[in-house]
Amino acid sequence: MSGTLSEEVRRRRTFAIISHPDAGKTTLTEKLLLYGGAIHLAGSVKARRAARHATSDWMQMEQERGISVTSSVLQFEYLGKSINLLDTPGHQDFSEDTYRTLMAADSAVMLLDNRKGVEEQTRKLFEVCRLRKTPVFTFVNKCDRPGAPVLQLIDDVERELGMKCYPMMWPILDGDRFLGVYDRVDERVYLFERGEDHGSSRVETHEGALTDDHILAAIPERAISQLLEDLELLEMAGAEFSEEAFLAGEVSPVFFGSALTNFGLEPFLRRFLQLAPAPGPRQADTRMVEPEETSFTGFVFKIQANMDPKHRDRIAFVRVCSGRFEAGMQVKHIRSGKPIRLASPTQFMARERTLIEEAWPGDVIGIHDRGNLRIGDTLSADGDLEFGGIPRFSPEHFARIVIGDPMKRKQLDTGLQQLSEEGAAQVFYAESLTGPAPIVGAVGKLQFDVLLHRLEHEYNVRARLEHMSYTGARWVDGPIREIERLAHGHGRMLVYDAKQKPLVLFDSEWTMRTTVDREKDLVFYDVAP
Ligand code: G4P
Repeated sequence: MSGTLSEEVRRRRTFAIISHPDAGKTTLTEKLLLYGGAIHLAGSVKARRAARHATSDWMQMEQERGISVTSSVLQFEYLGKSINLLDTPGHQDFSEDTYRTLMAADSAVMLLDNRKGVEEQTRKLFEVCRLRKTPVFTFVNKCDRPGAPVLQLIDDVERELGMKCYPMMWPILDGDRFLGVYDRVDERVYLFERGEDHGSSRVETHEGALTDDHILAAIPERAISQLLEDLELLEMAGAEFSEEAFLAGEVSPVFFGSALTNFGLEPFLRRFLQLAPAPGPRQADTRMVEPEETSFTGFVFKIQANMDPKHRDRIAFVRVCSGRFEAGMQVKHIRSGKPIRLASPTQFMARERTLIEEAWPGDVIGIHDRGNLRIGDTLSADGDLEFGGIPRFSPEHFARIVIGDPMKRKQLDTGLQQLSEEGAAQVFYAESLTGPAPIVGAVGKLQFDVLLHRLEHEYNVRARLEHMSYTGARWVDGPIREIERLAHGHGRMLVYDAKQKPLVLFDSEWTMRTTVDREKDLVFYDVAP
């Protein structure tokens, strides 16, 4: 039985995990589900991990994983809260979708490997959070094994990301042995016992004040002195935790733990539920939309085409922004002005699709679509408001798309136009729209495989790719003569997107950085302006 709209909004926590492959996202997800009581799902997350390294062949991946490439949100209950964990695909399925998903999250957990700190994909995903000022938690994982010095890890985040940190928990270490965490806010100690079952059940925890006899007895003296020393150092560094600064995306509370052994997960989850914001107001073109408003609004942040030619349906993932959503409800599709009925909304739970009757702000629903919806579209039960679109993020892989049969150029252009509108990949032209072979750009290489497959099966165009050596791009604004001059340099190329906006492609991060730094008269953007 559901509660009132405002109760349901208050109960919701919609977040995503941002991390580099192998930091432990799958393990953490599995454990969150374990703690959330949704144990039956944990297995399927694991199966997915097993499939992960198996192959880079996309079709095979899709077959092996069933719909897991599409699985987009895990919903579970924990301590009275309804949690939506949005899937941010990594590894081979890292794509622009991974970025777009962050546009639908209200907070993010940045998961770091305790030996590696901030890594490439963490940085990229963090930038998207920064764009929206999304509050970010930092969870340093794998503390069950020796890692980099804790202060060094914190320094890494502050320096690499320009994000202030507030260590909310502090690890209690006896040499390399991870005993537990100290919560600096409620000044409590949590000690964990290593289980026999490799973390497949909840971990035994002992909790108390640092002055309690049972706590003191359980920690070797040298570990206590180390902890006291560290805490003093942190106190000296000053800075109280500011919830306001956290919610503004300016400071990240830092936690320590081990997803594998479950150490530190419960104290983290409790603080997470306390601090993570419930769905808040969202800016539309004409006004702010409050989640408690009774009429339903939402926006499409991701479209997943079904690759099975027997099932041509596509699923549009919609984040509910306000009001109660009801199955079968009629809403207005703002871009076309047409009414559409949201007939069989689906919620995605790992491998299972479940039909749902209702959804609330913060929830994600999957809508079957025949090609009417696009990424960024607004759906609204009444009123003409429109949420700001989802930005196009600058690609990192580029290829010319070549067709064997020149008579198919028209189909190719139509296919590319539609697929790029849908967000499958971005299309660029070196000269004019009808000039030489178009260039496709993607955030993840998997997007190319999907693109070729869909061109062949949906548009009857067999194409191949000639990969280009560019690794980055920036939209650029300024006098066209200046842009052309700059693009003539070594390791750079000028292209135009489908809206005729100029971009410069770069052959290395270094070329890109030095060019951006040097060309003060031009403005560069890493998302489409
Ligand atoms: P990902 O989804 O972020 O890519 O990471 P995943 O959870 O798959 O974890 C990557 C590897 O790190 C796995 O080891 C996993 O067991 C390990 N791992 C995750 N969390 C922890 C932790 O808290 N402590 C330690 N020590 N290891 C952790 P693997 O050998 O690649 O896979 P598997 O054979 O264990 O499945």
